[in-house]
Order: sequence, then C-alpha cells, then structure tokens
Amino acid sequence: MRHLLSIEDLTRDDIERILDRAAAFEEVSHRDIKKVPALRGRTVLNLFYEASTRTRSSFELAAKRLSADVVNFAASGSSVEKGESLKDTVLTLTAHSPDAIVIRTPYAGAAALVASWTTAAIVNAGDGKHEHPTQALLDVHTLRQKLGSLEGRNIWIVGDVAHSRVARSNILAFRKMGADVTVCGPPTLIPRGIEALGCDVRYDLDDLREADVVYALRMQHERMDQHFVPSLREYAANYQINGRRLGPRQVLMHPGPVNRGVELSGEVVDSPQAVITMQVKSGVVVRMGVLYEVLAGARDERSAPQPTEPQLA
Ligand code: NCD
Repeated sequence: MRHLLSIEDLTRDDIERILDRAAAFEEVSHRDIKKVPALRGRTVLNLFYEASTRTRSSFELAAKRLSADVVNFAASGSSVEKGESLKDTVLTLTAHSPDAIVIRTPYAGAAALVASWTTAAIVNAGDGKHEHPTQALLDVHTLRQKLGSLEGRNIWIVGDVAHSRVARSNILAFRKMGADVTVCGPPTLIPRGIEALGCDVRYDLDDLREADVVYALRMQHERMDQHFVPSLREYAANYQINGRRLGPRQVLMHPGPVNRGVELSGEVVDSPQAVITMQVKSGVVVRMGVLYEVLAGARDERSAPQPTEPQLA
C-alpha cells in the first residue's frame, strides 16, 4: 500500500494484515530496549497543523520504535505563522527527503492533496471532518483484543457525529469488519444521509442497552460555526453516557480528549468498562503497523509471497 488516506480505500484483508502486524509488534513494547530495525535509515516527517496529544506522540513513538529518523513539525512556531502555504511548507520539508509524511490538518482532503505534491508515502492523521483512518484501525485493534471478532457485534457511536472524522472512519471500519453500527445524537449533530455509510440512526438513547460497545464522541466546538445544541447541560441530560445509562457488560470507548461531565460522566471514564487508555496503547503498535505497511510492506510483498510477520530481529 502506497499511502493511507482513508478507510474507504481499504479492504477487510488490508485491515486484517495491518492489525496482524500491529499485534506482532506488541511484544516490542515489553522489551527493555523497545526498538526493532525495520525502518532503519528511513525518515518520517510528522506534520501537524492542529492540536494533538495522542496521535502525535504515538506516531513519533511508533516511528522511533521502528528505528526511523523522525522530524516533528508543528504549524505553531513555524513559518506557517509568517504566511507560508501548505504547499510551500510541504515542498520545503520535502527537501529533507522524507520517506513518509504523517499529516494532520483542519482541511478535508488535504492529505490526498499532499500526496500529489511529493513522492513520500502519506499517512492521514486527520483531515478536517473527513477521515482519521489510524484512529479507526486502533479502535478495531482494541476491540479485537477485548472481544475477539467484531462480526455481528452491535456498536453505538454517540455524540457529535456531524463534525467527527473519527465517526466517519469508524463507521466504515466497523462495517468492513462485520459489526452492526448505530449512530445516535441530536438531529442537528447527525448529518443527513449518513445511513449511506451502512449505519442505523437513532435520536435518543432509549435502546442503548442493545449495544455491545458504546463509542462516545466529543463535542467538536472548533468545527462549529453556530450553536447546534441549546446548552451543554441540556446535551448532557439527553446524551451523556453515565452510570445510569451504561450497562455492566458494555465496553466504553472514546477517542480522547474527553470532556468529563459533558459526553461522559467522570464515573464511567474511570470504570473498568472504559478501554480509553487501551485505545491509546493500541495507537503505538497500530501506527507501527501502518508505517511498516507503507514503507516496507510493498517491498515485502515483492520478495515474499505470503508476508505475515514483520522482521522483528
Ligand atoms: C480526535 C481527533 O482529533 O480527531 N482525537 C484523536 O485523534 N484521538 C477526536 C477529537 O478531537 O475529539
């Protein structure tokens, strides 16, 4: 695979291959020296035009654990503040000959655009409200570890679906892995036509108990240009996942950052049902799997007909 731009481009086989590699990398995190030479001599450029805690740190760690050289670039503090465009920034940094560029921007479609300006492999780390494919992959990985197969599982995605790239990528990935997906939120935060992605739509939590997995989303204020709910208090009254609404056998997920007291109550964030820190852990191995796939996977496929294990030695 040359780039990872969206879940839409992946088949179920692609997802399984990347996640099987991620699982094989799991063992590296338990070593004293958490490194394998798989990407030695390669350069990974992390280009972040938006705030990020989990995604940025885990891409950096993933590249370093594969022995790649890493250049971290954040738009704030760079020449972007002096008016340099995305294209000129990419062309400038391409002069450092990166093998892969991991990019997060507030613009839908930017990752695909960058792919047309450089020969580096592009990994989309979130483009506006379009897609966040590595988040979806790490969520599938977390659920495979927690539940085994996703086949026939019932997953509810609750909250601000309209402004969420995570929702879009996750609906597509969960469906490809055989799960049934329901999105739920106030009508103003559920985009019209979302059923076309293969999910059901609900506007209240009355049947939440039918879910095996409850996946809560943050209110994405930074992408709202008007008021979509009367108040956060009213939103929480109708849609907050709390101890009263979450059943004892349901798995609770959230991509982070959590706004405690809004989409989730503090008690459920801290409950054993929450796998939120497990999702963050999955982020490192899954991004190792993705970087390996775009930088070394193709070479592997040419030399070995059935690649299953990454070269760990
Ligand atoms: C998400 C994002 O930035 O898309 N966070 C993440 O990458 N883990 C979701 C969010 O910001 O709410």
